Amino acid sequence: MNLEPYTFVFTGKNITFAQNNGEALWWGIAADKIEQKDMLLEKIEQLLREVSELTAANAEEIEALRLKYLSKKGEITALMADFRDVAADQKKAVGMKLNELKQTATRKINELKEQCETAETATDDIDLTRTAYPTPLGTRHPLNIVRNRIVDIFSRMGFTLADGPEVEDDLHVFTKMNFAPDHPARDMQDTFFVDNHSADVTKNIILRSHTSSVQARVMETTQPPIRIICPGRVYRNEAITARAHCFFHQIEGLYIDRNVSFADLKQVMLMFAQEMFGAETKIRLRPSYFPFTEPSAEMDISCHICGGKGCGFCKHTGWVEILGCGMVDPNVLEACGIDSKVYSGYAFGLGVERITNLKYQVSDLRMFSENDVRFLDEFVSAG
Ligand code: PHE
Repeated sequence: MNLEPYTFVFTGKNITFAQNNGEALWWGIAADKIEQKDMLLEKIEQLLREVSELTAANAEEIEALRLKYLSKKGEITALMADFRDVAADQKKAVGMKLNELKQTATRKINELKEQCETAETATDDIDLTRTAYPTPLGTRHPLNIVRNRIVDIFSRMGFTLADGPEVEDDLHVFTKMNFAPDHPARDMQDTFFVDNHSADVTKNIILRSHTSSVQARVMETTQPPIRIICPGRVYRNEAITARAHCFFHQIEGLYIDRNVSFADLKQVMLMFAQEMFGAETKIRLRPSYFPFTEPSAEMDISCHICGGKGCGFCKHTGWVEILGCGMVDPNVLEACGIDSKVYSGYAFGLGVERITNLKYQVSDLRMFSENDVRFLDEFVSAG
């Protein structure tokens, strides 16, 4: 149907108002249907362009697009209603175009959904196998790792743990341990004083300078056999440097029974050294002096770095010093209420920092008390 020379100036849903040379005409249904088809196609084309360029930032925006185009009240559904009025012979062409639009819109919106989901999972990165509240575990302090090792070794040889106060009286730290009243260890320069009784030094309250005070307390209250180790913190008035600190950790041991000899001490010390530093470790005892033991010795182990050949670590001697030991002085036994004619015993004392340095080559003693997690993290696998 040729519509020339009419010009369409207005179209309604089922009616088109046309004008012929300014003369208004009602074109009626037929013209309206033709017009409907062209309008529809144009609208479809426009929507096709629109939907193929759709973008959305999130799921809500995608849902808004779905509502706008595909829902019951959406634009494409509205076109379906208009489609009913298209002339029968045009229905096929318009119908195909309309289908294309519907498919394109559906595909595009699904595509947007997929993109949005992958983006979301990528940013969320949920790992369902992880624990709900991952708590980063710390590590044992290196001194505790080594203390536990030492305690473990002596426990297997029958020693039990004994504990005592860190704030002690002079009686247990010095007097019962056979220190003479004027012994320099009592000097203000060496020992931290909490309460100073110059009239009677044994009443002084001090920070213990060794855990021998625990041995004194155990001997006071227990009759032999005694087989104890006393781990604990001790204090000495030293300038703080890489090699000295005002506190450190000790483990002292005491064994008292009938017929205990220096040979027993030597064998137990050898067992300890080999358990701690390896089966090939040798020990060497050098004569020394302590007020509470007689005879006394300093014990060295063969250098575990060079195997005794001599290196920078052992100052080319092949030996490194690790502890002090000796046979308990009869004066100590008597001062603590043990009959020295019946019983004898040995004692030893070692510094946990010293053993830890030997085992892990910690170059600066201060690192042990700085709480630097970078240092502490070095021991995650050790303990
Ligand atoms: N009490 C000594 C010290 O602190 C160590 C030690 C204990 C030495 C027992 C010999 C015997 O240095």
